[in-house]
Amino acid sequence: MCGIVGYVGKQKAAPLIMEGLKRLEYRGYDSAGVAVFQDGRFELAKKIGRVANLEIEAARHKLTGHQGIGHTRWATHGGVTDANAHPHISSDGTIALIHNGVIENYAQMKKFLLTKGFTFKSETDTEVLCNLIAYHYAKEPKPTNGDSRFVESVRKTLGHAEGTYGIVIMALDAPGELVTARKGSPLILGLGDGESLVASDVSAIVSRTQNVVYLKDGEIAHLTANNFSITTLSSGTVEPVIDKVTWSIEDAEMGAHAHFMEKEIFEQPTALENAMRGRFSEDGSTAKFGGLNITAGEFRGVDRFMFCACGTALHACMVTEHLIERFARIPVECDYASEFRYRNTPLFRNSLFFVMSQSGETIDTLAAMREAKRKGYKVLAINNVVGSTIAREADGGIYQHVGPEVGVASTKAFTSQLLIGAMLALYLARMRDMSFSDGTQFVEALKQAPNLVRKALEQAPHIKAIAKRYAKSQDMLFLGRLSLFPIALEGALKLKEISYIHAEGYPAAEMKHGPIALISPECPSVFFAPNNEIFNKVVSSMQEIKARKGPIIAIVTEDAELPDGLADEVIRIPQCHEAVLPIVASIPVQLLSYYIAVERGCDVDKPRNLAKSVTVE
Ligand code: F6R
Repeated sequence: MCGIVGYVGKQKAAPLIMEGLKRLEYRGYDSAGVAVFQDGRFELAKKIGRVANLEIEAARHKLTGHQGIGHTRWATHGGVTDANAHPHISSDGTIALIHNGVIENYAQMKKFLLTKGFTFKSETDTEVLCNLIAYHYAKEPKPTNGDSRFVESVRKTLGHAEGTYGIVIMALDAPGELVTARKGSPLILGLGDGESLVASDVSAIVSRTQNVVYLKDGEIAHLTANNFSITTLSSGTVEPVIDKVTWSIEDAEMGAHAHFMEKEIFEQPTALENAMRGRFSEDGSTAKFGGLNITAGEFRGVDRFMFCACGTALHACMVTEHLIERFARIPVECDYASEFRYRNTPLFRNSLFFVMSQSGETIDTLAAMREAKRKGYKVLAINNVVGSTIAREADGGIYQHVGPEVGVASTKAFTSQLLIGAMLALYLARMRDMSFSDGTQFVEALKQAPNLVRKALEQAPHIKAIAKRYAKSQDMLFLGRLSLFPIALEGALKLKEISYIHAEGYPAAEMKHGPIALISPECPSVFFAPNNEIFNKVVSSMQEIKARKGPIIAIVTEDAELPDGLADEVIRIPQCHEAVLPIVASIPVQLLSYYIAVERGCDVDKPRNLAKSVTVE
């Protein structure tokens, strides 16, 4: 949430920062701003709306300096106004700051600062933090421990701050220096050739350098064009680890596609191949994972799994729950990460925790993970972004390896989570009662997933035509059973988040206990009806909808035969193993939501009020 970019080096800072902000816009797009240090002062441009608006505004300001900070905002404290946009400059003009996160005790700080003569132009917690740094900076004597006065004043200020932050700061009398610090919001340093960068996401840095340092919570970094040092909030020293980003800028570009979401939907066969590469045993009868950091013996001792996640990732957990219980016969519980944290769930002694998170930065998931660890449990993470906070704090985990996901609506990350969940179910089942030959069949089935998804994607033109017919709907139901109930939830989430059509996901048979009241010729139902043991039950649910004149869009496997005239629209998906079915069944609902949103003229990659990676509670 909120995109952050800072630059110091030989180039003009503003164009580089704005290029970075465009890549981060999916983190928040209420407003954008940039402050550049030039001619001994801060030159500031900020504007509500997209980075494109900021570029127009910035052109009027003639930003020529070689050092600057920029921000895209997802509003928390204070409305969407130019004044509330970041960067903020202290009222004495000495400090410029950008911030991702929430300062919870900003009201007390503000009261104090008002007594000291500071004034405020915005309603934000960020401006308060900025002024408090200015206050400490003005009072700060030169430290004796070799640190800069600039770093010390930031350290002192953060000692008073409650809440979360990723901040980057410039000081008027420290040209060529950036100070950055984090607690709960991601920050990455980029070490280029005669230039240094800092950003909330690697994608803003990777066009300049692949050498990065992931800042940890409680760390402060001091950057100049050719140097950097890291200390802790409590003045401890830090030996930085320089990592290499393994993907290039092309991976985060849209290419010939109209939207990132479209690109990422069509990338799924390759993404699935990458997610399973090298992860099957040599005898081809089970899965293997390199980074779980837990022995087979420990795994066998687990008598209950707990999965926590948010949004789409929680739907992937729910499918995983179904598969682990079905194949490995181990009880699994799934919970919204945000609820788990405060619910005080009674836990079993031999529980093992998993969290799932594409970004690895979702604050609710991170908090649930920390709560489980605090209670003494091991927590493993299924996560896409390498080096993310969740990946680093987990006891072990499985990377998704699907490359950057930029579209706010998750697609390829979701299906790769489903695949990894299925592989985990296989791994656990093979430790228990699943035979070698059943394991081999399972592995063969999983290897088919990319090709089956390719086949499902061939339905795109047909689904586009259906989308045109239903794009004006105001409500839609998504109905599925067993492992496809979570896919019904996911279909509804995908549709509502990008097209703003009200949609609900339900277990198909549960629909008659309430949601059926919504049914009318104007409220279509999307049914998942694979040819399995409860196919006829799903058909009965369809009949109940049809009897009330509700239009039906049926997603059926190729071998399923529906009664004539029952469904208004039929989308065929290939037959497949039940562990692969949720993956293949996701494709039509992703495409349906995408094409409906495009038909309605919605901003698919940046839906209103949303942001990728929710780093505030
Ligand atoms: C919906 C979507 C969100 C995320 C959720 C968790 O399309 O993308 O619901 O799934 O915000 O995000 P991560 O997986 O990054 O923890």
